[in-house]
Amino acid sequence: MHIRLSNLKRDYGSLHAVQDVSLDIPSNTIYGIIGRSGAGKSTLVRLVSMLERPDAGQVYFDDERVDNLEGRALIEKRRRIGMIFQNFNLFSSRDAAGNIAYPMEICGMDKAYIRKRVDELLALVGLEGRGNAPISTLSGGQKQRVAIARALACQPDILFCDEATSALDPQTTRSILALIKELQAKMNLTVVMITHQMEVVRDACERVAVLDGGRIVEEGLVSDIFANPHSEVTKDFLSHLTNVRDSIVRWSQEDGRFTLRFRGDTTDEPIISNVSNETGAVFNIRAAGVQHVGDEEMGVMVLDIGPDERHVREAVEMLKKYGVLVEGDV
Ligand SMILES: Nc1ncnc2c1ncn2[C@@H]1O[C@H](COP(=O)(O)OP(=O)(O)OP(=O)(O)O)[C@@H](O)[C@H]1O
Ligand SMILES: [Mg+2]
Repeated sequence: MHIRLSNLKRDYGSLHAVQDVSLDIPSNTIYGIIGRSGAGKSTLVRLVSMLERPDAGQVYFDDERVDNLEGRALIEKRRRIGMIFQNFNLFSSRDAAGNIAYPMEICGMDKAYIRKRVDELLALVGLEGRGNAPISTLSGGQKQRVAIARALACQPDILFCDEATSALDPQTTRSILALIKELQAKMNLTVVMITHQMEVVRDACERVAVLDGGRIVEEGLVSDIFANPHSEVTKDFLSHLTNVRDSIVRWSQEDGRFTLRFRGDTTDEPIISNVSNETGAVFNIRAAGVQHVGDEEMGVMVLDIGPDERHVREAVEMLKKYGVLVEGDV
């Protein structure tokens, strides 16, 4: 299901939690929304999932307006949405199977069907045979798997993940993201991934919107935004991406003045040699490596250019002609 947000606003007293947010979230994809704490992410999710009404603006699912629905129509539409959270929100009084069965019981589904479907869902999330497990005996990753099975029980079109991996260690995070990716493809879901971790965006999302102070400050394909971030918030998020640093080898502790990013076709060519030969510029490489962004591989190089400003300008101009993304001031 395709989601469209048009000029959404939500105030809490004098606080503008969501300000004029317009977004297109395509169907059948994993879409990231990243922002610092208090940026308005959860508020936005509550508006889109019809748990709260916007003060202004509209929400459309497949071109049908949904933010003004009431009664039965609202309940029906909410069933098209599954949600998972950081703290799992499971019932500790029920076992794993009981949690997964819950939304189907609410919908008044047949008992025999529910039993069969719970087994299917347990298998789907890799918890085959663990239906009787009390929630307190499950690990964080297993709890999130139960929550995912519960969210998908009534076959929704949309899955919201609000900081779904924030309470998990990196390895468990990767396994949960892999599961969400697998289920997204299998069930043609539109997944909206709310996070404050760039790693999550990099590893799972196709597109991303950066939210700051209730506004969208940047939006686009994850690979484009990693290659060429515009807003300060985005640059800040990217600079804290620990795994990227890990994949980059540093020769020198001094920061290079320029960061070059090579993507796609450019990556096989001897660009640095060509530019050096043709302009006479010299390159001092401080660090280099490969980043995996989504399904794309991107070469990264941190370097200084010399011997003087004229060579710097010529070299940067030529690098850009080669399609290299150059960050740093000429
Ligand atoms: N029900 C509410 N009443 C009053 N203020 C609220 C309410 N819900 C959210 N806010 C405020 O709105 C702003 C945005 O909050 P929100 O929970 O959407 O941020 P967030 O991006 O999800 O943050 P976090 O990463 O910490 O979850 C915050 O300043 C918060 O204090
Ligand atoms: Mg939140």
